[in-house]
Amino acid sequence: MATDIRKTANAALTARWAKPLVFVLALVPLAWTFWLAYSGELGAEPVLESVKASGLWALRFLLIALALTPLRMMTGVAALARFRRMLGLFAFFYALVHLSTYVGLDQFFDWAAIWKDIVKRPYITVGMGAFVILALLAATSTDGMVKRLGGKRWRALHKGVFVAGVAGCLHFIMLVKGWQTSPLIYAALCIGLLAFRRWPMRLGGKSRRADRPDAVRTRPAASRESA
Ligand code: HEM
Repeated sequence: MATDIRKTANAALTARWAKPLVFVLALVPLAWTFWLAYSGELGAEPVLESVKASGLWALRFLLIALALTPLRMMTGVAALARFRRMLGLFAFFYALVHLSTYVGLDQFFDWAAIWKDIVKRPYITVGMGAFVILALLAATSTDGMVKRLGGKRWRALHKGVFVAGVAGCLHFIMLVKGWQTSPLIYAALCIGLLAFRRWPMRLGGKSRRADRPDAVRTRPAASRESA
């Protein structure tokens, strides 16, 4: 029974339409925010609400991308690994929208004020740190960069995704007043994901291949599953 479900899930996730569908779904939050802004339903401070929405989705996609490996290990659905690069890139995309909205619509490209913010407001410094890491990971996410850097160096560099996750959560915790539940839930999820990832890696040492963005393409899902 479980094998049947796993096979069906693998078949669905390796189908030709799976990646385009996930791509379109990942754009829905952006389209929704545009729609709310257009219809005047973003509240009294639409720019701040857009900054908040894009920041939240950057963090959500980052955590979803981080969750794929533990999920793959738990369920044996190897094809989940196909979506890591795309969802990681969506985390960067939403972080870029977040930063652009802040720079363009919130600060009106006032670089002096932005620099002051980066230096004086620690939550902005931490957010900027997370963004720089995400940008570095996005720039080195191509197959060509995996080849140029070599698997070992590429994997070491891409462990930075954990640092970006922690920094994103820290940024969220620092910017809210007091100890609010929502940022703490994201932080707990992030810590749980990191802990879960480390644990099976130490036990079986099986997950290293999945750190490569081309892990599924270089070896068919079916053979990975039976391995
Ligand atoms: C590029 C540098 C960044 C800057 C300048 C920045 C700036 C901001 C600002 C101004 C806010 C609104 C603060 C307020 O409520 O008054 C915010 C909120 C937020 N940012 Fe960032 N941020 C950056 C990077 C990031 C990154 C990389 C992530 C995620 C990985 C992120 C996640 C969030 C979250 C989750 C919120 C709170 C949303 C909410 O209140 O619902 N930010 N950020």
